[in-house]
Amino acid sequence: MAEKEPIGVIGVGWVGLVTAACFAELGHEVWARDIVEEKIESLSRREVPIHEPGLPELVTRNEARLHFTTDMAETLAHARLLFVCVDTPPTYSGDADLSRVEAVLGELGDSSDHAVVMKSTVPVGTGRSIQRRRPGTGYVSNPEFLKEGSAVEDFMHPDRVVIGAEDASEQFADRVQALYDPLDAPVVRTDVPSAEMIKLASNAFLATKISFINEIANVSEELGADVTEVARGMGLDERIGPRFLQAGIGYGGSCFPKDVQALKQLAGNTGYHFQLLTSVIEVNELQKRRTIGKLQKHLGSLAGKQVALLGVAFKPNTDDIREATSLVLSGRLAGEGASVRVYDPVAARRADGLLAGAQIAESALDALDGADAAVLVTEWPEFRELDWAGAVKERMRTPLVVDGRNFLDRASLVAAGFTYEGIGR
Ligand code: UGA
Repeated sequence: MAEKEPIGVIGVGWVGLVTAACFAELGHEVWARDIVEEKIESLSRREVPIHEPGLPELVTRNEARLHFTTDMAETLAHARLLFVCVDTPPTYSGDADLSRVEAVLGELGDSSDHAVVMKSTVPVGTGRSIQRRRPGTGYVSNPEFLKEGSAVEDFMHPDRVVIGAEDASEQFADRVQALYDPLDAPVVRTDVPSAEMIKLASNAFLATKISFINEIANVSEELGADVTEVARGMGLDERIGPRFLQAGIGYGGSCFPKDVQALKQLAGNTGYHFQLLTSVIEVNELQKRRTIGKLQKHLGSLAGKQVALLGVAFKPNTDDIREATSLVLSGRLAGEGASVRVYDPVAARRADGLLAGAQIAESALDALDGADAAVLVTEWPEFRELDWAGAVKERMRTPLVVDGRNFLDRASLVAAGFTYEGIGR
């Protein structure tokens, strides 16, 4: 059997760690390099700092092949393909901040043996501009499509692998493609700007799907339709598909808000006004705030009322709270004079100090104690398992539930005497 190509991973955040662990699982020696010493130290002790199902097991199982280091020279000495996985957070203007990418490029030197394999999400045009500045070195665009909470599964069973490369870099692209052979996924080989656009356009399209179904939900509420039924019926049309049609209290996370904004901004920089994405963003922001109106409909003024927020993370199976609806809601509720108690099985500790004036509860029941309303923000399975008809109802002052993800069992809540408000039903 041919020897497996050793791999370098630069930037060991969420994407970098999943990439490193999964390539190690596929049998490659991996040098995973980060500048943060404490992170590398704890990873060297096989302590995984993020909540991602299956990841700790992969890191432990592939211990012998995973080399965590802060040393770039060591990484360059062992690996020729360097997967760049550093953050590209939004700047105040909404453009992507490429300073970490630039810092990495500054350290790589100009060896023609090495290739940058860009996994970080970068603006369309970034790859070509890097290639112009680094002639003779390899450059491959290989965007990631991992979802938090199922990243290991997504890596191992991708819908597609996108690889963008041009001219002399094609030989590096062949080597990158070979890494994915065992996964048996469709491969899209294309030019670099198109690969970059596939990433941004995919996230923007999914966000558009969510904002679309959220608007259908809002209109359904007025017209007597049930959006979950509507989505079921729409989703069976193969051209539409059933996924990402769950109405709720808005999308969050580190990707959709940032990437939709970045694409809009990128278009704007060329003089094109991306009308549709402007609306997608606006609909999402309004959606996050609609819960306030639903609470007021039943409680009148929220001043002095106690509201329990169930869930802080932007979605279940992650402790990520970036752009989470919980942050907006707790602020708006505090602004209305309500007192807020929040509970999340894993993300609460990250939220300390970020949830305006909210108290962090030790359990869901603790958060619900004496509450005038419960708002389900994140669809953690344990919230469905609560004894709503018994322990919860006994504890709450008013049995009112706003189910922000249409997740709870509406029929049994109503049968138990709760006032139930879903989204679009
Ligand atoms: C998203 C994409 O799904 C990944 O393909 C992509 O790789 C990733 O961004 C990225 O760019 O790194 P992620 O942000 O982890 O992944 O989470 P999603 O599962 O896509 O959910 C995003 C948000 O949309 C969540 O707040 C979720 O609650 C919301 N959502 C999702 C809905 O409101 N309705 C849906 O039907 C689906």
